[in-house]
Amino acid sequence: MRRLLDVVVLISGRGSNLQSIIDQTRTGALPIQIRAVVSNRADAYGLVRAQAAGVPTRVLDHRQFPSRGQFDQALMALIDEYSPQLVVLAGFMRILGRDFVEHYAGRLMNIHPSLLPAFPGLHTHERALESGVAQHGASVHFVTPDLDGGPIIVQAEVPVLAGDTPDRLAERVLKEEHRIFPLAIRWFAEGRLQVRAGQVLLDGEVRAEQGLVARPVVATPTSTPGAAQQRE
Ligand code: GAR
Repeated sequence: MRRLLDVVVLISGRGSNLQSIIDQTRTGALPIQIRAVVSNRADAYGLVRAQAAGVPTRVLDHRQFPSRGQFDQALMALIDEYSPQLVVLAGFMRILGRDFVEHYAGRLMNIHPSLLPAFPGLHTHERALESGVAQHGASVHFVTPDLDGGPIIVQAEVPVLAGDTPDRLAERVLKEEHRIFPLAIRWFAEGRLQVRAGQVLLDGEVRAEQGLVARPVVATPTSTPGAAQQRE
């Protein structure tokens, strides 16, 4: 039996990325155990998804804390009750401070709805449309104190189509998020990711141009041949 990686997932809302992780964990495609889902909002729908999957849930409302630093400290203490090997930000909409980020250095992963370094921060789909880019997409990256600026693990491109609205574009980007986030988590769980000089290596190599590990093509079955099976 293979060892499962202990993971804590942080959310703030809908939790569709969380669902994609839960689904792949259930099928055995992801060799992880979600020890807990933590939300900073009690009404996050992702909490319902976690409960339906039998995953323990916790709520830590940031508004109960006088400062960002105090919230971060309490969040760290809560997360560390589960001794996770990886902490995953799946639509967690709070900025985390340096102490928090450094505490989880190398084991804190985020999904962001743009082709970073383009459009860090909020309202990425609106900004992509306004700027007239032909390609938009999503990125999974390790988190560093530099907001949305940590080393990129994998990206998926989504072409911007004539007549796109932010919602239509967001929907197509989200589909890609649901594909690449579990993929990056699986690579991590299989011990295949390394960060060297600020760059992510997969199986010891930089996999594509621009310092990106991979473009969407890596998610096809033939391009990640039997990786999970080899490590069973
Ligand atoms: C996703 O699009 C994710 O990339 C984004 O929030 C959404 C959460 O959706 N995250 C950020 O913008 C982080 N700055 P979900 O709750 O359905 O997974």
